[in-house]
This record gives sequence, structure tokens and C-alpha cells, in this order.
Amino acid sequence: MLRFLTAGESHGKSLVAVVEGLPGGLAIDEEFINFQLRRRQLGFGRGERMKIERDRIQILSGIRHGKTLGSPVSFLIENRDWAQWQVAMSAQPVSASADTRSVTRPRPGHADLAGALKYQAADIRDILERASARETASRVAVGALCRILLMHFGIQIASHVTAVGNVRIADKFQELKGSEILEIDPESSIRCADPEASARMTSAIAASKESGDTLGGEAEIVAVGVPAGLGSHVQWDRKLDGRIAQAMLSIPSAKGLELGWAFAASRSPGSAVHDEIIYDAREKRFHHPTNRAGGVEGGISNGEDIRVRLYLKPIPTLRKPLRSIDVATKRESAAATERSDSCVVPAAGVVGEAMLGYVLADAFLEKFGGDSIREIEFNFMNYLRLVEEY
Ligand SMILES: Cc1cc2nc3c(=O)[nH]c(=O)nc-3n(C[C@H](O)[C@H](O)[C@H](O)COP(=O)(O)O)c2cc1C
Repeated sequence: MLRFLTAGESHGKSLVAVVEGLPGGLAIDEEFINFQLRRRQLGFGRGERMKIERDRIQILSGIRHGKTLGSPVSFLIENRDWAQWQVAMSAQPVSASADTRSVTRPRPGHADLAGALKYQAADIRDILERASARETASRVAVGALCRILLMHFGIQIASHVTAVGNVRIADKFQELKGSEILEIDPESSIRCADPEASARMTSAIAASKESGDTLGGEAEIVAVGVPAGLGSHVQWDRKLDGRIAQAMLSIPSAKGLELGWAFAASRSPGSAVHDEIIYDAREKRFHHPTNRAGGVEGGISNGEDIRVRLYLKPIPTLRKPLRSIDVATKRESAAATERSDSCVVPAAGVVGEAMLGYVLADAFLEKFGGDSIREIEFNFMNYLRLVEEY
């Protein structure tokens, strides 16, 4: 229904993407997209590269006079750093003496070795340029387009950092309501609701960076205002939880995912886990007073906030590198170091918002889809009436 492709190398000329399936007539606020791109670049622990880049979207197609046409939306985001990489990343052949910035010492934890073996690349740069999370800038812009559609129907997405390394937020902040998470300053450098933990997270990142190391952590992503009925129980690949998991685990360095209180639930009896059902006669609405399921039951959104927790490994490029092998000589050697971030948990949360936005927009269009925004409004309103009359 809604699909997208991205292209572009980290130090190539630009990043590009094509998004197909957005309805016609949707008003697009480019500044909202640029705002999300800026947020991805923020975060305590980002490296020097983010000081060079000023990510902004340049729309190439699919939008006219501020509204979508229903045709594919394509855009590019320039890599400012390209100016320094024109020879190393040239599309044309270069002379044998040119500085191609080739890499032969794979970094443990990165795509370097597995990718080089798979693609038979003598220069690991052929792999790392695309494996780099620079690509997630395109995803954040795609996600922003999706979120503009969702916001039109009252669905909002936000994220906050719940742990960096072994610094976790206090228990009272673990169960913030979705509406409270929406209120956290979206541009803060840690984006953590617990001020005391924020300070300790900042110190932990600074200390880790100082020692040439990196830190992972956790971010929680929430969607508020999601109607019951997105996704389906009838087929494995239509289940919303499975679709969310696939999208989230495709984020570089995301290695684990939790929907609602999944990990605690696995250690608890059913009576302490499942969210009871109540009916609000005034609002004509079914409710769950708790939301341990994270807003999805049976692969279908149940009308509560969607809550996803993302577990991120520490990023692989270390200033004090681990042991590796030089693939050219087969001799033991320290892994390569690239200019790098030291902690990307706040930024990964922003990418998580984008990916959740994409999955929900896709499921939303599957349920209420039409070619124009007007048609979708009708479908959506009719469905809400049916739910109210149920
Ligand atoms: C926003 C963001 C920025 C990242 N920046 C870096 C970086 O500067 N250096 C690095 O080694 N890894 C970075 N990573 C993680 C790597 O891209 C990732 O670990 C690598 O592609 C291997 O994929 P995997 O960890 O999913 O297995 C970043 C991840 C994200 C989400």
C-alpha cells in the first residue's frame, strides 16, 4: 500500500528516497520534515560529522503547491561532506594513485566483514558507506511524511530515552502516559524525562567518549490517538506487532524490541499481565485501564497508545579499537576507526519514531485507504461511527 526505497552512500553526493502510496491532497509542511531531520542530528554523543551536515529536504516530485498529488514523492538530502569526498566516492574510475580512503580492517559489530565477504569487496568502504546510519536521515524524512498523514487524523508519535548504558530512569518515569511523553522537549539533547538520570546519562556518555569507548541504551517510542483496528490477526504478515518489530529492528544498532511490558510479562502470571476491559458509556468507548500490552492485541491495535521499547547496542566504531584482521594481509590488526558518534540513543529514538510512523501510516491506509485525503476522511469517519455504534 505505502512503500519507500532509499538510496545514497554516507559520503556520496546526496541521499534520496521515493515514497509511493501517499494519497493526493495532503498538505505538506516541509518545515515539519526539516524539524525531524534536525532532531535526528541532535543528541549528546553525536560526532563531528553532524556539525558539518545541515540536513534539509529538497522535494523533487509528488508535491505541488504544498499538497501531495498522489504520485510518488521523491526527495534528496544533500551530503555537505561530499565536497571532501569527491575523489574517494567518485562514480567515475579514478587513477591508481588517487586517495580512495580504502578500508581493510573490519570493525567488530559493523557490517564491514560480513558485507565484504558477501559482496566480495576488497575495499570495505564499498560496504560501510551504505551500512552507515547516515541512511536513516532519509528514513526520518519519509517517516515525517507519514506522520503528517497520521497527524491529519489525530495520531501523534514521540520518543524518550529510558536508559544509556547502565543508567536507567527512575521507576516513576517508567510508566509515563503517552500524552506526557509527547510533552518532553523534542529538541533536548538527551530527551529523557528524569532530570537526575539525564545528568548521569550525560556524564556517562562524556566519560565513555573520553575513554575511546561507546554506549548503547534504550528508547521508548509511543503513538497516541491510534484507533482500534489497524493490522489484522488473519495472516502472519498482516500482524501489526510483527510489522512494527521488522521496521524497528531494521534500525542500525537496534538489537531488541519490547512491546508494552513484554519482558516483565514473561515473568508474571496472566492475572497480573492482561489489561482488563471496561466500557465508558458516556464516551461510547471500550477502554483498558492499564496498557501492559502496548496497544496491540492479536496483531491489531486495540485503541490504547502503542508503546515500543527499543534496545540499542553500543555503536561499533571505537576510538580505542578492538582486535581485528587486515583482510588484505590476513595479519592481526586493530580495527579501522572512522570519524564517529559515541552514543546514538536519542537519535535512534527519532529514527524509531519515523519507522513507527511508516508502519502505522501503512496500516492506516490499508484500513481506510483511498486515493485522496477527502476519501480517507470519509472512510475514517464512517468507521469511527461504526465503532461507536458497536
Ligand atoms: C542515528 C545512528 C547513528 C549511528 N552512528 C554510528 C557511528 O557514528 N559509528 C558507528 O560505528 N555506528 C553508528 N551507528 C550504528 C551502526 O550504523 C550499526 O551498528 C552498523 O550499521 C551495524 O548494524 P547493526 O548494529 O544493526 O548490526 C549509528 C546508528 C544510528 C541509529
